[in-house]
Amino acid sequence: MLLKKVHTFSGVCISLFVGLHLFNHSYSILGADKHIELMNTLRYFYRNIFAETILLLALLVQIISGWTLFKSNRKRAATFFNQLQMWTGLYLAFFIVVHIGAIFFGRLFLDLDTNLYFGAAGLNHFPVNLFFIPYYALAIISFFGHIAAIHSKKMKQSILGLSPIKQSVVIFVTGICFTIAILYGLTNRFTGFKIPAAYNILTGQ
Ligand code: HEM
Repeated sequence: MLLKKVHTFSGVCISLFVGLHLFNHSYSILGADKHIELMNTLRYFYRNIFAETILLLALLVQIISGWTLFKSNRKRAATFFNQLQMWTGLYLAFFIVVHIGAIFFGRLFLDLDTNLYFGAAGLNHFPVNLFFIPYYALAIISFFGHIAAIHSKKMKQSILGLSPIKQSVVIFVTGICFTIAILYGLTNRFTGFKIPAAYNILTGQ
């Protein structure tokens, strides 16, 4: 089915960016400076009109095709991994719309550098962190959960004695480890960075 093929193709393009993006965030466990240094290097590749246009178009295609597939497959999803694929996809669609909207609002209207401090501001201030901690945690878990679910359907071979289902469990558990590492790295109580005052506007201080 063409729609599924389009969804898979745009998903692969997006995953290349998101894989690097999450690796960048996990780098924060080495310190805010290291995170920002790596982001500045990665920005050479994605912060240009060509890459950002492709990425934004792929995100749009992903959300529209995903929503169409969600509506037609919802009642037929029988297995655990089918359900996981649909609900993680739905959450990712919500997250991407809000996340991209926030990034562009920060960049274009608040004139902020949307670096580590932009992501960390909401995570480190009570009471807004009650929203931002589950909001980001669920996004990372959903990204890995969505891939784990697809892997369980497509993969037919065992690797190192692990069945396709067990391989998917490994992917999912890796996602949980990334979530913990990223939330740890972006929490200034643990890694000791100071959020510049310019970002206080994000938390209403
Ligand atoms: C803890 C989790 C996350 C945090 C704190 C975070 C934070 C950020 C920040 C600060 C930027 C701006 C980057 C820059 O200015 O160079 C950004 C961009 C972006 N993020 Fe995330 N992100 C997270 C997870 C995700 C996930 C799970 C996805 C996708 C599923 C995602 C998709 C994107 C995309 C598509 C961009 C736009 C890139 C661009 O064109 O500049 N992010 N994120």
